[in-house]
Amino acid sequence: MGAGLHAELGASRLTSQTRVRHTRRVTELRLDPRDPRGLRADAPMLAAWLDFTRQAKAGHLLPMGVPGHKQRQDLVGAVIAGDAPFYGGLDTIKHADMLRIDSEERAAQLWGADWCRFSVAGSTHGNQALALAVGQPGQEVIVNRTLHRSLLLGLVLAGLRPVWVRPEIDLASGLPAGVAVPAVRDALAAHPAACAVFLGDPTYVGTISDLAGHAEVAHAAGVPLIVDAAWAAHLGFHPDLPPHAIAAGADAMVTSAHKALPAYTQGALVLARTERLNPARLDRAFEATHTTSPTGSIMASIDAARALLAADGEGLCGRLIRAVAAARKRLREVPGLDVLDGPGVEPTKLVVLLAGTGAHGNQVEADIIAAGMYVEMADRDTVVPIPTIADDEEQVARFTEVLIGAVERHRGTPRHPAAAASWTVEPETVLSPREAFFAPAETVPATAATGRVSAELIAPYPPGVPVLAPGELITTDAVKALREVAADGGRIAYAADPSLATFQVIAG
Ligand SMILES: Cc1ncc(COP(=O)(O)O)c(C=O)c1O
Repeated sequence: MGAGLHAELGASRLTSQTRVRHTRRVTELRLDPRDPRGLRADAPMLAAWLDFTRQAKAGHLLPMGVPGHKQRQDLVGAVIAGDAPFYGGLDTIKHADMLRIDSEERAAQLWGADWCRFSVAGSTHGNQALALAVGQPGQEVIVNRTLHRSLLLGLVLAGLRPVWVRPEIDLASGLPAGVAVPAVRDALAAHPAACAVFLGDPTYVGTISDLAGHAEVAHAAGVPLIVDAAWAAHLGFHPDLPPHAIAAGADAMVTSAHKALPAYTQGALVLARTERLNPARLDRAFEATHTTSPTGSIMASIDAARALLAADGEGLCGRLIRAVAAARKRLREVPGLDVLDGPGVEPTKLVVLLAGTGAHGNQVEADIIAAGMYVEMADRDTVVPIPTIADDEEQVARFTEVLIGAVERHRGTPRHPAAAASWTVEPETVLSPREAFFAPAETVPATAATGRVSAELIAPYPPGVPVLAPGELITTDAVKALREVAADGGRIAYAADPSLATFQVIAG
């Protein structure tokens, strides 16, 4: 690291005395074209990243640490441009934790939490960290079965035993609503030794549950409510949006800054209140499954996204709400086309329902891709684009017209929507996920798999909700549902044999 960089970064190597000086200094800087909104004044990690990468670009650095590319672009090329290690880049290895704590405290404050960590490994890591932060191996937890596979693997890591609760399915769309509060209350009453409630909210399709009600029943039972809000980093930042999970009373939430916010891919936040969760245990759980070499670019982009929300969250969310409302209205004008809407759906989610047009979602998606756009998910009956606060009304409107054009080209006979297996799966759990994960397994042909216990997790992706999980009985319904997804062009993820000709089962 060159002397120039040391001078530059001196101000961001934060001790309590220098922190104030640093903040004042960066606010005095003139606007950097690489930071058009001047976010660095409130984003210490971003400021450090901007300084480091400027020095790297100017060739002022001679790093004698990792990463091994040493900022040289003559080896593997531009693919490493902008890569700055958090430890030893954004600040020295000895001091970077001060910078981290400063940025994470700002995020905790924005979300009204007591504790916050930035993850470079997505909500996947956040879910697993939170599973490791509660209870002891063998204890029960109340969990919605439409959970993302990352949380299921979190249960494997932590040795927790799931007590499943399920969302209501909306018959008109075949899509899940939120989990009802009485379902959680009943599960807690039937399993008084459960140590936590884990819910995914909003659901993958933007439906929301009564989180305040869930918090109340969880707290009445003396356990924390933990929410996978992977898609909802923007909630709570506009009066027309539902409150975020912490504001609704949850004890912890994980959210992907790279999904709803303009952060680097993989950036996520884990936020918690410490009345029912121990901060030291949270830190242990977080560190147990996080890399020791987080990339500063992802960390700084989370910091920047947080600063953006603080500065202009309401304005940007308002623009997005208007854009999505206009798109929903326009789509509903097309005969047969519908969208998820109403008070149970968060207002920035655009879930397009195709069944009434007879068009097949995969064909519609192919046309959208050919037009240079892509969507988060498409299956026969549903297309899910992800507009975010990075989109303006014109962009969402342009996408909407492309989508309508594709639907018109592929119109067919209207049909009733089918609920996907991911939402309707009703597993019979024979072994806990952890017992099954570590049990001896064998490969059997599909014809011999039904009636055996699955050793593997198999999920159509998206949405990444397991149709089969370790420890669950393999039923003809589950195999049939997975086959239907595959036949319809869906991706069967995480199966040892994605052709579904064979399955991994518990031996014996
Ligand atoms: C509900 C839910 N939770 C967690 C995740 C994992 O998020 P990430 O990709 O940030 O690891 C996803 C991913 O799509 C998800 O849909």
